[in-house]
Amino acid sequence: MNEIVLNHPLITHKLAILRDINTGTKEFRELVTEISILLCYEAMKDAKLEEVTIETPLEKMETGKLNEDKYAVVPILRAGMGMVEGIITVVPNAKVGHIGLYRDEETLEPVEYYYKMPDGIADREVLIIDPMLATGGSASATINRLKQDGVTKIKLLCLVAAPVGIKTIEENHPDVQIYCAVVDRELNDHAYIMPGLGDAGDRVYGTK
Ligand code: PRP
Ligand code: URA
Repeated sequence: MNEIVLNHPLITHKLAILRDINTGTKEFRELVTEISILLCYEAMKDAKLEEVTIETPLEKMETGKLNEDKYAVVPILRAGMGMVEGIITVVPNAKVGHIGLYRDEETLEPVEYYYKMPDGIADREVLIIDPMLATGGSASATINRLKQDGVTKIKLLCLVAAPVGIKTIEENHPDVQIYCAVVDRELNDHAYIMPGLGDAGDRVYGTK
């Protein structure tokens, strides 16, 4: 089991508003950011800290600090961009790489149209972000592409996952831990997650 599902009343509450057809673009974006912060909090639970000595107004102490520079966030365009603000609120110095993929509407296969990663990507821990894990094709293609570039530490953060998408990642990439806010029932005939929240890209950008 490579997935960690956030099971928390705050998440259920925020998702209820996010999913609602009557929720407008502004509130949708704000909620994606808020849930992304909570997802990132969970995904950073095993982060390694560097030992540092600091001085409080009262005395010196040994404590730990994160080397944020070791992290890269990779949104899958377009919808993944909606989660960037939330992640960099928590890890403000993380570098950001971009991969552009869209699902061919007939084959449902991901088609890559953009790829630009920060320098030294192979040495960074990468957090892939995308609100929707449906068939898992887009996330799996992203992981393949990053592995081609030598990346070895990858986590996948999504808001809504379908069971089949989780299975795809677990089969193709058993080394990748998935963090999702919720796992929904199934995919419909057009590979949309049910009940889901609709087309995440269109809702983030107000394009439909
Ligand atoms: C959506 C979503 C994922 C993908 C998930 O993007 O943001 O990237 O579909 O589906 P999959 O798991 O079956 O691959 P879409 O291709 O609609 O592009 P967009 O973000 O530009 O709207
Ligand atoms: N992409 C979306 O935006 N929504 C879905 O339900 C599935 C894929």
